[in-house]
Amino acid sequence: MVLRSCGAAVPDKVLTNEDLSARLDTSDKWITERTGIRERRIGGTASSLAIDAGRQALERAGLTGADIDVVIVATATGDAVTPSTAAIVQDALGTAGAAFDLNAACSGFVYGLVVAAGLIATGSGRILLVGSEVLSRITDWDDRTMAVLVGDGAGAVVLEPAEGEGNLLSANLNGDGSLRQLLTCDHGGYLAMDGREIFRRAIRVVVESAERALGDAGIRAQDVALFVPHQANLRIITAAGQRLGIPIERTAVVIDRYGNTSSASIPLALEEAARMGRVHEGDLVLLSGFGGGMTWASALLRWGP
Ligand code: UT7
Repeated sequence: MVLRSCGAAVPDKVLTNEDLSARLDTSDKWITERTGIRERRIGGTASSLAIDAGRQALERAGLTGADIDVVIVATATGDAVTPSTAAIVQDALGTAGAAFDLNAACSGFVYGLVVAAGLIATGSGRILLVGSEVLSRITDWDDRTMAVLVGDGAGAVVLEPAEGEGNLLSANLNGDGSLRQLLTCDHGGYLAMDGREIFRRAIRVVVESAERALGDAGIRAQDVALFVPHQANLRIITAAGQRLGIPIERTAVVIDRYGNTSSASIPLALEEAARMGRVHEGDLVLLSGFGGGMTWASALLRWGP
């Protein structure tokens, strides 16, 4: 499987820490020091953001919707229970074949990557994989513990069959449903979580699954050119990087501008890194996500055509 292009989309509306401090008992100092977030984007729908990100990924690959055989949208905030958000994306972009959503919370993009690799291995053609979320829609904006964390956005990649090894060197998908109460949102309700407990577990599971992905590919952390972790908290990102032995200079960080965008956070960070020329052909790129479920997952890519 080859990753051919990336795309991204965020809403225009910027919500700063000052904006939130004006209406909630919080402060720019608290939010910045505890989370690394300075502002976030708010607005749109999972489908509108996914369509924009998907269209950009297609354009950058020089493709049209007709060249895509499967659309997968990783999301926990789809437009409706049914139809799937992927069905709306399929119609808008004019893609052929299959379209479905995947919900593994903040691990959704890495889960989607592995699902896509499996589909391609069993004969599927090109796949448009999108992580798209509008967490703002399931957030109680009077609850300071959640309101300061979330943001909206989407990131997309075009994946296609490859001759030989391809870009995906190793991956692991993990979950522990007995921990599902740590992060919840009922139908029609709002996000709620045990932040401290997730924080404690997140660092451990990110390090564990990232090290497994590296070990399975016979790669050392020091040889990773770019670490692209889920963007939930800068302190989690920094602590996981330190334990892995990957410095912040080799880590993709977008949480300061986008907050936690769940399944969109890894592809948003990956797209920015690719656009800014931070990854080159042959570079090793380590993705690692964790979130509700609990789920956690890592994938190791070799960047290139
Ligand atoms: O996407 C995957 C799932 N989510 C996560 O990965 C989130 C993981 N958890 C976290 O990132 C952190 O636990 C939080 C950012 C959610 C919270 O940071 P913390 O350092 O764990 O803070 P805390 O919950 O221990 O709260 C510390 C204090 C408390 O006050 P007291 O009891 O010490 O007086 C809170 O009431 O901070 C207070 N607090 C706030 N103060 C100002 C909580 N939220 C806020 C706020 N503004 N927004």
